[in-house]
Amino acid sequence: MKIVHAASELFPYVKTGGLADAVASLAGTLAEHGHEISVFVPGYRAALEHPDAALAEKILRLKIEMGDEFLSGDVRMFAPRKNLKVYLICREEFFDRKNPYGTGERDYEDNADRFIFFCKGVVETMRVADLQADVVHCHDWQGALLPLLVRDAERKHGVTLAVKTVFTIHNIAYQGLFPRSVFARTNLPDDLNSVDGLEYYEQTNLLKGGIMFADRVTTVSPRYAKEIQTPEFGNGLDGVVQTREHDIVGLLNGVDMAVWNPATDALLPARYSMASLGGKLMCRAELLKRCGFPVGFKGAIYGVVARFAEQKGLDLLLANQDFFLSHDCRLVVLGAGEKRYEDAMRALVEIAPDRVSLSAKLDESMSHLIEAGSDFFVMPSLFEPCGLNQMYSQVYGTIPIVSRVGGLIDTVTDADEFPDSGTGLMCGPNAESLGDALQRSMKLFADKPRLAAVQRRAMMKDFSWHVAAEAYEKLYQESL
Ligand code: ADP
Ligand code: GLC
Repeated sequence: MKIVHAASELFPYVKTGGLADAVASLAGTLAEHGHEISVFVPGYRAALEHPDAALAEKILRLKIEMGDEFLSGDVRMFAPRKNLKVYLICREEFFDRKNPYGTGERDYEDNADRFIFFCKGVVETMRVADLQADVVHCHDWQGALLPLLVRDAERKHGVTLAVKTVFTIHNIAYQGLFPRSVFARTNLPDDLNSVDGLEYYEQTNLLKGGIMFADRVTTVSPRYAKEIQTPEFGNGLDGVVQTREHDIVGLLNGVDMAVWNPATDALLPARYSMASLGGKLMCRAELLKRCGFPVGFKGAIYGVVARFAEQKGLDLLLANQDFFLSHDCRLVVLGAGEKRYEDAMRALVEIAPDRVSLSAKLDESMSHLIEAGSDFFVMPSLFEPCGLNQMYSQVYGTIPIVSRVGGLIDTVTDADEFPDSGTGLMCGPNAESLGDALQRSMKLFADKPRLAAVQRRAMMKDFSWHVAAEAYEKLYQESL
């Protein structure tokens, strides 16, 4: 099949979270399975600075209609592996910035224009480069206009650009919600500027367009597919999701074992596997050293790697700070995003610099080291569409402490509740329940044979992407 993906992040070119990993692994695995894959991402500064992009060819000049003006840009293309082409939709004014979405305190004011331009650039490239896609698979609100724009362009130009469209919701909390006036920038027919189209309580909601108009809708775990049909998790779009009740499926993400595998991970100071865990101890020592803690420390190390956003349950973690201050343990946090969480974490480090360490930045190699060197990985999310870190931590023999929501339920089993099959500890999501899980983790840490058994079971789990990629292949085939 010829499959076009459009997303706002793609590992290793631009990444703020799991979207980048998920799109890269899906596209890579489909390419490996022999499909012809094109992935479109905005030409962000980070992507253009990547060595692969130095080899990119400018294949097209763009002149994109945005309301009553035309904006220019260009398209660069490179092929990082067999069957895989990456297209960058470039316009300096929009994408040559330090961060993809905002400053950390607020979103960029022109985000609507930036991503409408991106989607239109994808459609224009598909048309001019004649990509003849079987499936256009777009991701999250930044790609959500594509199902509508593809059909609109086909009508305007009398061509077929794609047989079917698939839209994946990686996170329904981010919707691309803008003032109503933004609709004009789409140049879509006026009847779509209504409640049967993109209008949402007097605003323009881009995500809504993807959910309503894609031929098939997916999300990233079976549990989340159910949750987003409820007011509690639907973020106001539960009614819209319900209208697609029969077309929506939850396909669990996987782990890209070429990137996240302790036996081959080049970002670690030492490698290890279930049969030989010595390398994990070396990773632990390196982690302690990097955090400025005594390398011989024997207590439990709790790791956190998270976007600093409310979703990740950082408030629950902070509410339990006394646990970390009063037990023989260390807390190692890596995160970037909202400044209020960075400030709160810094304040905690100031109280106990000998127990808590913070790296407030994006740091790929540190994220691997935390997964490898910690004993527990703490992820008390308030909601979690899938979550990748709890899977990575299991593969790395680090026991996840997660809340009972979304994909976390689909990928972790509580070791106290299910002593013969548990691979982690589950809680809340609330501060008290997290406190209880942290206490239980101390008991587990003290019982070394039980700890080793839980760790072994976690490392034996198969999260490989082939299962997920096959599920997408089946979905594409069915829709065609
Ligand atoms: P989400 O996509 O909601 O942020 P996931 O668990 O699906 O959550 O994926 C998070 C991904 O982002 C993981 O690959 C994780 O390692 C990575 N990540 C998050 N914060 C950082 C950071 N500060 N530095 C490096 N990687 C990070
Ligand atoms: C989103 C979700 C996360 C998911 C990731 C990849 O960022 O928050 O749960 O794992 O997308 O699908």
